[in-house]
Amino acid sequence: MSETKPKKKPKAAAKGAGNETPAAEVERLSAEISHHDELYYRQDAPEISDAAYDALRRRLAELEKAHPELRRLDSPTVKVGAAPVAAFGKIRHDVPMLSLGNAFDDQNVVDFVERVRRFLKLGQDDELEVTSEPKIDGLSISIRYEKGALAQAATRGDGAEGENVTANIMTLREIPHTLKGKDIPDLIDIRGEIYLGHKDFEALNAAQAENGDKVFANPRNAAAGSLRQLDPSITAKRPLRFFAYAWGAASNLPADTQAGVVAAFKSWGLPVNPLMRISTTAESLLDFYRDIEGKRATLGYDIDGVVYKVNRLDYQNRLGFVSRSPRWAIAHKFAAEQATTVLEKIDIQVGRTGALTPVAKLKPVTVGGVVVSNATLHNEDEIARKDIREGDTVVIQRAGDVIPQVVEVVLAKRPAHSHAFKFPTVCPVCGSHAVRESVEETGRADVVRRCTGGLICSAQAKERLKHFVSRNAFDIEGLGTEKIEFFFDTDRIKSPADIFTLARRDAASEEPLTSLRGFKETSVRKLFAAIDARREVPLDRFLFALGIRHIGETTAKDLAKAYGTLEALRNAVDAAIDGGKESDAYRDIDNIEGIGETVIDALVDFFGEQHNQEQVAALLKEVTVKPYVRAQTKESPVTGKTVVFTGTLTKLTRNEAKAQAERLGAKVAGSVSKKTDYVVAGADAGSKLDNARALGVTVLDEDGWLALIGQA
Ligand code: IVH
Repeated sequence: MSETKPKKKPKAAAKGAGNETPAAEVERLSAEISHHDELYYRQDAPEISDAAYDALRRRLAELEKAHPELRRLDSPTVKVGAAPVAAFGKIRHDVPMLSLGNAFDDQNVVDFVERVRRFLKLGQDDELEVTSEPKIDGLSISIRYEKGALAQAATRGDGAEGENVTANIMTLREIPHTLKGKDIPDLIDIRGEIYLGHKDFEALNAAQAENGDKVFANPRNAAAGSLRQLDPSITAKRPLRFFAYAWGAASNLPADTQAGVVAAFKSWGLPVNPLMRISTTAESLLDFYRDIEGKRATLGYDIDGVVYKVNRLDYQNRLGFVSRSPRWAIAHKFAAEQATTVLEKIDIQVGRTGALTPVAKLKPVTVGGVVVSNATLHNEDEIARKDIREGDTVVIQRAGDVIPQVVEVVLAKRPAHSHAFKFPTVCPVCGSHAVRESVEETGRADVVRRCTGGLICSAQAKERLKHFVSRNAFDIEGLGTEKIEFFFDTDRIKSPADIFTLARRDAASEEPLTSLRGFKETSVRKLFAAIDARREVPLDRFLFALGIRHIGETTAKDLAKAYGTLEALRNAVDAAIDGGKESDAYRDIDNIEGIGETVIDALVDFFGEQHNQEQVAALLKEVTVKPYVRAQTKESPVTGKTVVFTGTLTKLTRNEAKAQAERLGAKVAGSVSKKTDYVVAGADAGSKLDNARALGVTVLDEDGWLALIGQA
């Protein structure tokens, strides 16, 4: 937990109450922590501050250390925190719900407009219309209308799949059950933001407090908590509101501009934000931004910036997406909110890859309505550069959901005998040397100091396991942080494969889990079932779960998409390991969109190491990796074909051609090989064209290509 708002005193002090026995105290603390976990994770309604919560946990940990026999396996310290509410069904988004790139200053906005103009090859006199509108700080939702009737509604979830909240959405007064008017498509997913107005938020909190119920930290939390009620009659009592600003799948659209479609939304009876405007220059976008920033406090609802979108939909289509966000839109965020407090201590945490991360432990302070007691310090150099010391008074800031940061030290308030912070050179967990490797490209020391203990460092091994079971990886319910720690410390789970053999070993064990204090039969059964439920896993999750450096979710998806199966990927990586950096095999991986040398090197390092090969092999005895299933792109004449673009194109930019080909399901490669299906050659094509001819690959000119894909 990082940020909560203290509204009430904790139900009991953290210290044992006088004559309480240790066993009774463990019981009491467990119940309390459980209660607060429930409030924080499930109800979005923390009652106590981070510090108070941490004190409860610290005391329990203390007791457990002193009396290991009292450590309960079903205690809340062993339970996953953020388990999703299981009772809502899931809905897959036909068109994923993506996020927006961010602009933090004026220059970023100027760059955005220029980037778009360049991409579209607009001349100086060509006008580019861009809409601007407030960025609502609520939660996004996708509402499907079929023949004008509200059919289903889903939260954003992970962008690909959300929770089915249809019954709850049906209770919102502002959302029509039937659309009325002209040009209503047979099917359309309306996207927008659910939010709570300031007045309604305050009234809700006052009523909650009066009834002794939970009080929400901010309107966003309140809106989220209200929508995620399993009982829709509760949602119905909360005055949730809605602005429609985008769409997902649609059988057809009522206009050919962003503003036109949103105007149609309005005519159909959907609420839209009245402040949307159209501009044609970066300056006028910035004027809008400043105007809205000035009005921010009087709007009556929370906003955290403004959003700019290219108005013409044909331009939007040409611009397409990069990674997880559209190239045709950007969010311009408001500056972060700041506060001053005392930095009590600098903690060093050891992560999955051995990185030593400094964390500032702060005297709790409210920033923008949320109590903050931790802030990130990034790394050693940052601490030295800002000369941040324990005991200093510091200015901190937070922006949106971003982890709070230390901006600067208030030197005037520095205690007389303070001394510069000494960053440890040994791992605080395993005692191994902690070093800063030199970065190949620059020859300079890496900013991150890492523990060299590898798997002998229990912190690293545990963090890898936690990552492996986490929500976006194997997503094993009921196997959270604390349980991993316990199973690791008791030698039950040391590697990913051990998770899947746990039940078998437990059945044969002289000390089965159920014989341990506090570990009930039903919870053990549930855990084993949750593990079994993950014996089949999609390729991208599998890759992400392995925790290979530089392979985050997006890269894992890119790799899964490009190779389809684990076998194909392993073959490609093995070939690159054998062939080295200059080999075709290496370059073939390099040709994949989104994949560069850093990732290939990380794959080569990981799969080249025997220890990892053994761990993966052991894991594959227990789990089946499902091939990647492509999102339903329409079959096109180039689906599954490999295309190489070379030379200067005149009707499309290279990026555009590439994006378009990929949308149609083609794989775009950078070099020509036997596997290439088409080479599209523009003017002045060089060696690639020669190669194509030599290998007998079909060569097309730009018009030929456009004809092939039906765009001539
Ligand atoms: S457009 C393809 N317009 O901001 C992206 N988003 O950071 C379409 N948001 O997930 C989103 N106000 O929840 C758009 N006027 C607005 C918005 C808005 C708030 C949220 C939305 C999105 C997030 C992206």
